[in-house]
Amino acid sequence: MRAEFLPLSRPSIGDAEIAAVTACLRSGWITSGPRVGEFERAFAEAVGAAHAVAVTSATAGLHLAFLTAGIGLGDEVITSPMTWASTGNMILAVGAHPVFVDVDPGTLNIDPDAVAGAVTRWTRAIVPVHFAGQPVDLDPLRAIAERHHLALIEDAAHALGTTYRGRPVGGGTAAVFSFHPIKAITTGEGGMVTTDDDGFAERLRLLRFHGITRDAWNRYGRRGSPDYEVVALGFKYNMTDLQAALGLTQLARLEEFIEARTRIASWYAEALRGIPGVEMLEPVRYPARHAWHLLVVRLQLEVIGIGRDAVMEELLAANIGVGLHFKALHLHRLYREEFYFPPAALPHATQASERILSLPLFPGMTREDVGDVTNALNDIVRRHAT
Ligand SMILES: Cc1ncc(COP(=O)(O)O)c(C=O)c1O
Repeated sequence: MRAEFLPLSRPSIGDAEIAAVTACLRSGWITSGPRVGEFERAFAEAVGAAHAVAVTSATAGLHLAFLTAGIGLGDEVITSPMTWASTGNMILAVGAHPVFVDVDPGTLNIDPDAVAGAVTRWTRAIVPVHFAGQPVDLDPLRAIAERHHLALIEDAAHALGTTYRGRPVGGGTAAVFSFHPIKAITTGEGGMVTTDDDGFAERLRLLRFHGITRDAWNRYGRRGSPDYEVVALGFKYNMTDLQAALGLTQLARLEEFIEARTRIASWYAEALRGIPGVEMLEPVRYPARHAWHLLVVRLQLEVIGIGRDAVMEELLAANIGVGLHFKALHLHRLYREEFYFPPAALPHATQASERILSLPLFPGMTREDVGDVTNALNDIVRRHAT
């Protein structure tokens, strides 16, 4: 057994990050300012979008994107149940109804045919989730959105570094990224909304800072004017320069991180092939680059004599960190009680919820670390084999 606990994830923070944050601390300006602007420009360029708007989290970004798209009371929003609480919760926060549709059983990405079948006269938007770092099939979703005049807002929390048919995920009406420490790059906590629409970007900027016409930099900076006016119901979702200083140095290392994740995933693929009853998710069937945000495996419970939760407990006992991404949203109490989607109506998401778990994956992992994980998993599976 490993002597030291191997976490599910650990951010890669080096001297450059520490120097950048220190320089910001010494500069005298630590909230939203020039570094946020610089981070936004670099990020927009990295994903090929016209605009990037930095916020405090992807959750905040989803909230603002939904408001900006005009989603409101009684509207229906079609989304994936294989997601974090934020996606559904922010649909509820703007007064809309989440309409969950099933996922592809191999990739756990939303099924475009199921989306097409769920459109009603009340549908206002489609919110697909690029699951674990693989892109959803955007072309058919774009066609559905266009045909029915719907907003397409991508939950790209897992998808920095992901490409779809040769282009990075980002742009369009809106794509929302996360910089939580488990993600491809981190700002501690943080998020970014990218869009190709000038008006959409302008509205996002207004709503992220109280709905007032000037942020602090523009009011207290040398060329600023202290006057301001509240013109819309906004929020306090602005990213700080401290976070942006970290984000800029992390973004410069994105390719290094994705290459490391891809290498580690290939070590896993090789080792997992020899373990009965454990399989990796399938690659998508269109041109794509997997950003390997998560290493999700699926257990064949018929082959393994114990349940998924017991496997997770035994991995933890063997000093291996684990994650659950995700227990589908329609199975959580809030969604069961408020919006009943019978588990049988979403069979793939329901089945995956009992069978998947995430194994450690972060750029600093060594081949020995991967060996420790797969040996522990192999031991557990063989000990309980039916
Ligand atoms: C699919 C998905 N959407 C949204 C979020 C929210 O991101 P944040 O923690 O930056 O608010 C997460 C977080 O893990 C996520 O996995």
